[in-house]
Amino acid sequence: MKTVDTAFVNELLKQSVPSASNKATMALEYSLMGGGKRIRPLLLLNTAKAVGKRLSKNAQKLAVALECIHTYSLIHDDLPCMDNDDIRRGKRTCHMQYGEAFALLAGDALLNLAVETVFQGSFSKNYISACQFLFKMSGVYGMIHGQCLDLLASGRDLQEANQIALHKTGDLFRASIVCGAMCAGANSQEIAIFDEIATKFGICYQVIDDLLDAEKCEQSFLDIMSEKECRAYAEDLTNQVKALCDSLPYDLQFIKEIADRNFSRKF
Ligand code: IPE
Ligand code: IPE
Ligand code: MG
Ligand code: MG
Ligand code: MG
Repeated sequence: MKTVDTAFVNELLKQSVPSASNKATMALEYSLMGGGKRIRPLLLLNTAKAVGKRLSKNAQKLAVALECIHTYSLIHDDLPCMDNDDIRRGKRTCHMQYGEAFALLAGDALLNLAVETVFQGSFSKNYISACQFLFKMSGVYGMIHGQCLDLLASGRDLQEANQIALHKTGDLFRASIVCGAMCAGANSQEIAIFDEIATKFGICYQVIDDLLDAEKCEQSFLDIMSEKECRAYAEDLTNQVKALCDSLPYDLQFIKEIADRNFSRKF
């Protein structure tokens, strides 16, 4: 089965940019269309396709909403009151380009756009479950909880680092794979395995992110492990992800490929 690619995701996102002509919309478009790898929507759409054997409109709405939430989380994460970063994806961060106030509004607008977008889907029991899971994983039980833990981190031990990574990064990956599986009608045992795949991949993704950000003075897996240990840990998690993929009755080669590519990414 042909997999959904980045160009398809970019087209969906382009069609979703609001037409309102104001500076918040410009700032939002700058960040949303500014060259992300689109891993979360790719995981969501391809999981939905692998499980449901077709690409539903509902999966497309969830994928756009998820990338909007991810982008807002990055705009806010880069602000001076958080990580204070000037560069993202090789370009000026949203607040460097448009100022802090408009970056804040662009983030707010993206979260709102995510809600508007899921309301364009057709509500079935499975779709409602997927929408609930998406917003739970984005909020104070999910990504926002992770950002809180990150800001208050003590750099103490692996358990703490895992908890931070699980929530600040893992929960949006859980949303991607689990929402794809849910809206395509996977059963509850399968969803539990998809969730385990996403959780392990999410932690692994943050381990590699910390290696790429080694020079930054932020909470990191490098506070508690050497670079070599981090790589070994990421490889172990990736092997677990692949074994779990093989335990499901679907063609999940795309997840295995994304998990492998994680090691060679440059940003
Ligand atoms: C960056 O996510 C933030 C983390 C959770 C590590 P991505 O690496 O997916 O960022 P983009 O969207 O491709 O730039
Ligand atoms: C990002 O973690 C997590 C979220 C934005 C939710 P990081 O702060 O490590 O991500 P980068 O390094 O800025 O992309
Ligand atoms: Mg951060
Ligand atoms: Mg950051
Ligand atoms: Mg980082």
